Amino acid sequence: MVKQAIAWAESQRQVHLEQLKTLLSIPSVSTQVEHTSDIVRTANWLADHMRAIGLNEVSVQPTDRHPVVYGEWVQDSDAPTVLIYGHYDVQPAEPLALWDTPPFSPTVKNGNIYARGAADDKGQLFIHLKALEALFETAGRPPVNVKLLIEGEEEIGSPSLDKFVVDHQDMLSADISIISDSHILDVDKPALLYGLRGMCYMEIELQGPKQDLHSGSFGGAIHNPAQVLCQIVSALKDDQGRITIPGFYDRVLPLSDAERTALASVPFSEAQFRQEAGVRKTWGEAGYTVREQISARPTLDVNGLVSGYTGEGGKTIIPAWARAKVSMRLVADQDPEEIQQLFTQHVESLTPDTVELTLHNWGLAKPALIDRDIPEMQAAARAYERGFDAQPVFIREGGSIPVVTLLKETLGLDTILMGFGLPDDNIHGPNEKLHLENFYRGIETVIYFLDEYAQT
Ligand code: BES
Ligand code: MN
Ligand code: MN
Repeated sequence: MVKQAIAWAESQRQVHLEQLKTLLSIPSVSTQVEHTSDIVRTANWLADHMRAIGLNEVSVQPTDRHPVVYGEWVQDSDAPTVLIYGHYDVQPAEPLALWDTPPFSPTVKNGNIYARGAADDKGQLFIHLKALEALFETAGRPPVNVKLLIEGEEEIGSPSLDKFVVDHQDMLSADISIISDSHILDVDKPALLYGLRGMCYMEIELQGPKQDLHSGSFGGAIHNPAQVLCQIVSALKDDQGRITIPGFYDRVLPLSDAERTALASVPFSEAQFRQEAGVRKTWGEAGYTVREQISARPTLDVNGLVSGYTGEGGKTIIPAWARAKVSMRLVADQDPEEIQQLFTQHVESLTPDTVELTLHNWGLAKPALIDRDIPEMQAAARAYERGFDAQPVFIREGGSIPVVTLLKETLGLDTILMGFGLPDDNIHGPNEKLHLENFYRGIETVIYFLDEYAQT
């Protein structure tokens, strides 16, 4: 069954590449309203494609914002069911000037396909469709039951998905879930993730005087909101890189010595990390390695800061307002809602009564931690060995995929995080790409996974 499917996939590489180009050419940017029709077009394209390859019950299901695409093949009552998740929405491509080729004109160059969404996540979710198609074409069926849940709001924090999953528990019930929305270490170093960080995204707004004031006539007797904001922001972390919000670390699961040793044994070059970031030195929470800092420890970062006059030359004013966007990446077992509360209390306590404080939340996502010893994880490891000729390492990742903990809490599902991207794919940045070898090997590896899983 597997052999023929893999041979078929190999014979279709050119066709699959052309189809991938079509999918990547639709600008399915979820955060920009002007792309709403592109979002719908992408959902419909996927649904048509899913019907064409042999999936049943395919539908485009509306939510409060962007539709979910669903499809299934559930015909073998003796076999377990795999829920495959992916997201068809992408991040904005701007600034366009930094792209060597246009983000929505997919271009093949040096063994890569360049386009927004190539790796995150349209290219990786397409791998699953092609693996299933190969099985339908050659064996007439996949070796297990499959359900596909493909959403269009991941890049905006999946705001409609909680309700969708809660409302469709029977439709989505399964034994395990699998997601390809991450990267491996290198072309021949596959990696299974067992941890993802969560998120609490806040915006602080301070209103000072009713409008910008002359800094000579008023300066000296008015509390400057830009300076107050800087004082608040700088009080959120100490010089050891520890977040100062009371209670922030209370639920953070400590790293065991065994886990630290295991993580430390995974190859990681700090020199290369510095080079990728373009910094002379790294800086982070004292007492933790860089790898731990970027994946197994929570963080707080200012994402944007704006106030006053930022144009050419000088302008002598006291600004009327100041704003900062602050995101916190969370780790198990931190609860994003509780962190939002703690953040709010702390910032309120730091704000003097000379300015007006408004806080806004721009998204919450729960962190995830998955047991590395479950049999499905071992099946995934064997699939990588067959697909990439190498044993995968087990690592945690610093990014977030909100659905993982949602599936665990609502449907009791563990998730296999089996990615096919590479660390230098430039996801969210200019010149995003997917390595084509990984695309083809990914299709084979997913076929192997379904085969291995059917035998567990
Ligand atoms: N696929 C990424 C998450 C990711 C990044 C996993 C790198 C593994 C390696 C996902 O699409 C993403 O970007 N998530 C957002 C979620 C946020 C908007 C809640 C993130 O992490 O910023
Ligand atoms: Mn993604
Ligand atoms: Mn993303």
